[in-house]
Amino acid sequence: MLIGKRIAGITTCVFDAYGTLFDVHSAAGKYRERLGGIADQVSSLWRTRQLEYTWLRSLMKRHIDFWEITRDALDFAFDMYKISDTALKNDLMEAYLRLTCYPEVPETLMKLKNRGFKLAILSNGTPAMLEAAVKNSNIAELLDDVFSVETVGIYKPDPKVYQIVVDGLQAKPEEVMFQSSNAWDASGASVYGFKVAWVNRFRQSAERLPGKPDIEITNLMELPNLLA
Ligand code: LAC
Repeated sequence: MLIGKRIAGITTCVFDAYGTLFDVHSAAGKYRERLGGIADQVSSLWRTRQLEYTWLRSLMKRHIDFWEITRDALDFAFDMYKISDTALKNDLMEAYLRLTCYPEVPETLMKLKNRGFKLAILSNGTPAMLEAAVKNSNIAELLDDVFSVETVGIYKPDPKVYQIVVDGLQAKPEEVMFQSSNAWDASGASVYGFKVAWVNRFRQSAERLPGKPDIEITNLMELPNLLA
């Protein structure tokens, strides 16, 4: 329900992790010099393949966890750019456990928590990856739960993934406000029945997919004022 421009009836705010709370490109950014002039290209291909492998493996019913997917995608990107530095590859993987969060994240979570919303993460990441990222950004105590797709063994946007939150928090889908910067994830969450904020950090065009975000914001700072 929209009251004025605000969404009412929300009890729980759930966040996608990679790209939404944590900057996936901060890993390659850390090793910009060692990656020569192609850090951005490697990072972009790494992320693209990582996501594609989740969708393709889900369709094939050949699940491996997100840590292995992330490594496979990096292997592919290194091959494509003819980089053979194994130490650099290991350092990039390690950096994935310590991605920086976007600057507005801690304050936004704090504001929402103070207003009494339950807060959680729902991510493709493994429990270990998510625990490391949350710890690194010092946001563990702001979160009620961190949910990983590993409990259902399939990736977003399979509806079983969004169901994890409903089961885990005993919430109704329409009480959940789901935030993702990944437009396809926002779409999947909307199809499932969540209220959705698309965090359009990179001012991308709307995807031609089913399920429309209820609100579009450019960063998470805008969220608290949009909830009644
Ligand atoms: C995640 C991916 C979609 O955190 O970024 O689930």
